[in-house]
Order: sequence, then structure tokens, then C-alpha cells
Amino acid sequence: MRALIASGGRGTRLRPITHTRNKHLIPIANKPIIHYAIEAVACAGIRDIAIVVNADSSEVQEAVGDGARWGVNISYLRQERPGGLAQVVALAEEFMGDEPFIFYLGDNMVVGGVTRFVEEFRRSGCDCYLTLSKVKDPERFGVPEILNGRIVSVEEKPKRPKSSYAVAGIYLYNRSIFEAVKAIRPSARGELEISDAHQYLIDHGRSIGFSEITGWWKDTGKPTDLLEANRLILDNITASVNGDVDEKSTVAGKVIVEPGARIINSVVRGPAIIGAGCLIEEAYIGPFSSIGNRTEIKKSEVEYSIILRDCKIHNVGIRLEGSILGNDVEIVQAAGKPLVHRFMIGDQSRVEVV
Ligand code: DAU
Repeated sequence: MRALIASGGRGTRLRPITHTRNKHLIPIANKPIIHYAIEAVACAGIRDIAIVVNADSSEVQEAVGDGARWGVNISYLRQERPGGLAQVVALAEEFMGDEPFIFYLGDNMVVGGVTRFVEEFRRSGCDCYLTLSKVKDPERFGVPEILNGRIVSVEEKPKRPKSSYAVAGIYLYNRSIFEAVKAIRPSARGELEISDAHQYLIDHGRSIGFSEITGWWKDTGKPTDLLEANRLILDNITASVNGDVDEKSTVAGKVIVEPGARIINSVVRGPAIIGAGCLIEEAYIGPFSSIGNRTEIKKSEVEYSIILRDCKIHNVGIRLEGSILGNDVEIVQAAGKPLVHRFMIGDQSRVEVV
């Protein structure tokens, strides 16, 4: 069994954060999203992994490396332009040879890992095995139609979904998928859709099995998804305080304080993670906050937010909530009179003020 992980695409729905960074490298609980995919696959006992990357960038290779830290071998396959998930699969034909494989979308997160699905796929003897999750907005996803316990059709982002399930980004295949991805044609939006490849398999009498994801699953396509994934991962952390917490501070609940972080005269209420070298001074950090390395938060309050590394949040009078800040962002009090808000904001940013 081998694995294919997708980490290409443009992440347009996550701009401006993705202007300067591949979306799979956005940290959730201070760890790049794609690391969760690699861990899940490694945990299922798979050793040989191919990651599809954008051909014009090497940032994923730099952030992930050769896989040694997870005890796996990682190869990279370059995609010239994001032509769809079926194209991603087609790129891996040579790498997979005759091995069955798991295809894992690098922006998907699932609690509980994928071992169960790998085992069920093996036992089923199916050509293709899909994982399904009940969602409120199936029109955002690939949607299966299920009749008498069998998947009879799959549609990509249908206007009128035929079930309330999303096909999650964790698929298992044998080599029959390569015939399908080569046979289909681009969709109206110009992509080779993985759902069309699944429909091809159904139309050609291949066996399609499926399993429902019973725990939580997230496609981190939108900013609110990132915050939710961050909340869910933080909910499962184990507290460990390796930085300095002075006697005037309170650290309550599940909180990770990484080495070199200092918490002075502040309240941190978990679940939360404070990155290495952070300075939290006369501040409040509330539940479901991830604070990246070396960020300073002084005389300010932050809750349910993802703040990346090297930020400065100083003397902000109103609590930051549901916020995502990139690297090196500063939110500080404007000096002098009159009292003003002064912004210096890049393309496609969004600020909500009271
Ligand atoms: O998350 C599950 C959904 O993922 C499925 O329900 C849909 O059937 C499937 O098409 C896909 O829909 P999305 O609209 O979420 O796909 P997105 O364009 O966001 O890409 C998914 C992942 O694959 C993401 O990690 C980026 C990567 N990717 C995407 C494309 C189009 C590539 O590596 N190359 C590509 O060409």
C-alpha cells in the first residue's frame, strides 16, 4: 500500500494568508496542516508517500523534507498548473505501479486517523473506497447518491445534492482509477474532477465501497474551517508547560507553553498553545487560540484565533476573536492625537471594526 497526498492548488478562498504561503503550510495548533496528513498515513503503516506540489514553488518540500522524521520515504511529483484532482492522481501512475493506494487531500483533517479506512478497503476487495461525512452544505463537495446501501452516482458540487453526505478527501484505490482519470474530460470549470472519475468507475461496473466518518472531519477550504479545525485539534491536546509562567499569571485548562515563552501577569485559559519564544504580558489568551513562535501579546486580549509567528499585538482595546493573522503582523496602538485607526493592509485582507 502506498499514499498520494495533494498539496498543490492556489488556495484562493484563504487569501490573503495564501498570497505568501501554500495553504497546506498554514499552522493548525502551531503545526502545518499537511503534517497531519503525513502523520495519519504513517500511522496506518504506509511507508512510501508521493506528495503532489505546485511546480513553481518548493515551499512544501522545504517544510516537509524527505519524511525521515516520520519514518517514511517522501517523493515529490510536480503539477504544472492546478488542473483538478483527477490530474493529481494521473501524475502518480508510475509511482504507484500495481500497488493499491490511499489518496489524501492535504487540506483535509480527520480525527482518529485513516487506519480504519485502510483496513476496511483491504477487507472489502473493492476497486475504490470512499469516505463520507454528513454535512450541512453538501453543495460545496462531491456528493454521493446512495440506493439500497450502494453508491449509484457521485456529483461534484451539485446544485441539488442527492444526499446530505460529502465525499471526504480520503480515497482508496487500486489501479483501475488510472483508467478512469485518463478517460474523463474537463468539467465546466475546466478541471479534471475526481467525482467524474468515480462516476466513470460506477458506469464501468467497478466495485465502489464506502465508510462513514463518524468522528469529525474538516476540509480547511475557508477561513472559518481553519478556526474550527484549530478548535478541534486544541480540544485534544495534552497540557505541558515548558516556558516561564510568573506567579502573577494564571494558566488554566489544557495549555501548551513551548520552551522560551514567557507569560507575565496574564491569564491563559485553555485549550490553547503558546509558541516558543512568545511574550504574553498583561494579556488574556482565551480558549482555542494558537499563538505562533516569538509573537508578543501585551495589554491585549485574544480568543478563538490563529496568530502566526513574530506578530505584535500591543495595547489593543478590544478583544480579538475569530481572527487569523499571518506572519509578522502588527496590531498596535496608534501614537498621539487624534484617536484614530490607522491601517496598512495588503490585498484581499479583511478587518471588522466596532
Ligand atoms: O474536501 C473534499 C472535497 O475535495 C471533495 O468533496 C470534492 O469532491 C473534491 O473535488 C475536493 O473539492 P475542493 O473544492 O475542496 O477541492 P480543492 O480545489 O480545494 O482541492 C483539494 C485539495 O487538492 C487541496 O489540498 C488542494 C489540492 N489540489 C487541488 C487541485 C484542484 C491540487 O493539489 N491540485 C489541483 O489541481
